[in-house]
Formats: sequence, structure tokens, C-alpha cells
Amino acid sequence: MSLLMIGCGKMGAALLSRWAGMPHQEITVVKPSLTAVPPKVRLCNNIDLLGDATFEVIVVAVKPQLIATVLPPYQKHLAAGGCIISIAAGYSVASIEKHTGPQAVIRIMPNLPAQVGRGVTALFGNSRCSAAQLATAQALTDAVGHTLRVDSEDTLDKVTAVAGSGPGYAFEIARCWIEAAQALGFSAVQARELVLNTLAGSMEMALQSDASMDELRDSVTSKNGTTAAGLNMLRKDQIISDLFDATIKAAYQRAVELR
Ligand SMILES: NC(=O)c1ccc[n+]([C@@H]2O[C@H](COP(=O)([O-])OP(=O)(O)OC[C@H]3O[C@@H](n4cnc5c(N)ncnc54)[C@H](OP(=O)(O)O)[C@@H]3O)[C@@H](O)[C@H]2O)c1
Repeated sequence: MSLLMIGCGKMGAALLSRWAGMPHQEITVVKPSLTAVPPKVRLCNNIDLLGDATFEVIVVAVKPQLIATVLPPYQKHLAAGGCIISIAAGYSVASIEKHTGPQAVIRIMPNLPAQVGRGVTALFGNSRCSAAQLATAQALTDAVGHTLRVDSEDTLDKVTAVAGSGPGYAFEIARCWIEAAQALGFSAVQARELVLNTLAGSMEMALQSDASMDELRDSVTSKNGTTAAGLNMLRKDQIISDLFDATIKAAYQRAVELR
């Protein structure tokens, strides 16, 4: 399959690092600033270098605000029967088709752990997409972790708020936790090691279990013990619950604005 990626920053590079190893892929990347790309990936710093080449899949990996100016000249590089896959947060199929005309358009919403094969990606295709095109897109998203197919763009925007932006929340929570450990006397290195491994181990345990988070939390909390003391503070006045509710809603609202 021939695949063209337009733009290759943080998210594009995360995807590319896994896609480059897939068999039967010919990948070309257009990126203004030339840097290293994985072996077997062709790098162009300018659309003009593509000549009259066409591609079965064009992946749009630029910032949403740039799509209107960047995408239109690529239309002629989409092969007949090809499809566009956009990773842009919030940017709707209708907005993409304003620049390309009616097309098979698939929106995917990956998150950055794709880089280590542990991403979660939501996938939505418009009605012009064939089953084969959707399967091709899912093969790409499966290669970077877990795929969730969704049946509306609104759901995709909600996934953006929960999972697309999720690593940012996870890193911020870890940062606070690490700082608190340092305040207790651990070195930065020790605090990072303790917190990240505790988080990773706990989440791996949760992933391997059918138990709810309430059940898992209670299973590690004995009455009047240390965890109970910590949780009494963490759960005080539902501050964390309310904060998360507001956080996810703010991210969803931003995705809606970007449509
Ligand atoms: N980061 C995330 O966690 C995440 C998660 C889900 C979805 N997304 C989506 O992924 C997209 C990219 O985000 P990002 O975080 O990867 O941004 P980024 O790091 O800023 O990458 C954007 C890329 O676009 C390139 N670019 C700019 N103008 C271009 C042009 N005219 N032609 C070709 N390429 C051009 C930039 O190249 P230069 O560096 O050479 O300027 C850069 O490689 C966004 O639409 C975002 O909504 C991001």
C-alpha cells in the first residue's frame, strides 16, 4: 500500500515509528523541516518533489489550523479509490471535504503512547468509505495499540477529550505525585521511579482484571490503614471527581470549537 503522510511532528512521528515496520507499505512523508525518518520511509521537504505520484492513503498529520491551507494541493496526489485519513483533533469530515471535494475520509484519534505500541485510537469513517478502506485504516491503528471504532464524529471528539488528550492528564498527575514524593524527601530520580512504576503496575493490574476501579481501590485499602488515610484526603469533597469532570468537558468543548 502506498501511503503519504503530510506533516510529521510529535503524533505523526509516533505513528510512523510503528507503521514503518509494517510489511507491504511504501511510506512517503512531506515535512518542511527535513529530519531523520525511519528506514524505508521516503522524506520530501516540499510537495513539488512528489511529481505526479499518487497514493492510496493520504494521512493528514498537521495542526488543525493549517489544514485549510496545506491540504488542497494534495488532492491530485490521491489515487482513484484512495482515502484520506486525518489525525487532526476536532477537524470534521465536512471541513476536510471543503478542501478536497467529496472523498472517502477517515478520522482517527490516536494518543501518544502509540509511540510504544500502547496507544488507544478511535476510528470513524464517512459513508463514502468502503469496508476495505476501513479495514486498511484499522490495520494501521491496530499497529499502534488498541482501536475503538465509533459511529459518529461527536463520539470521536469525546474520545479526543478522554483519550487523545489523556496522556497530558496522566503526565500532569504523575508530575504532582512525583513532586509530593520529593517533598517527603526522595530524590527526583527515586520519586520518578517510585511513582511511574506504581502507576504502570497498577494500570497493568487493572487492565488484566474485570474488577471495577471501586473494587480494585477497596481491595488495596484496609480500614484505618495508610491507603485509607491517603484516600480520605484524595477523595475529600469530591474535588478530584469534579476536577476531572470539568477537565474532560473543557477538552471536549475545545474539540467542538475546532470543528
Ligand atoms: N500530539 C498529540 O498528542 C495528538 C493526539 C491526537 C491527535 N493529534 C493531532 O495530530 C496533529 C499533529 O499534532 P502534533 O502534536 O504532531 O503537532 P506538531 O508536532 O506541531 O506537528 C505538526 C507537523 O506539521 C508539519 N507541517 C507544518 N506545515 C506543514 C506543511 N505546509 N506541509 C507539511 N507539513 C507541515 C510540521 O513540520 P515542521 O516541524 O517542519 O514545521 C510538523 O511536523 C494535529 O492535527 C493534532 O490535532 C495530536
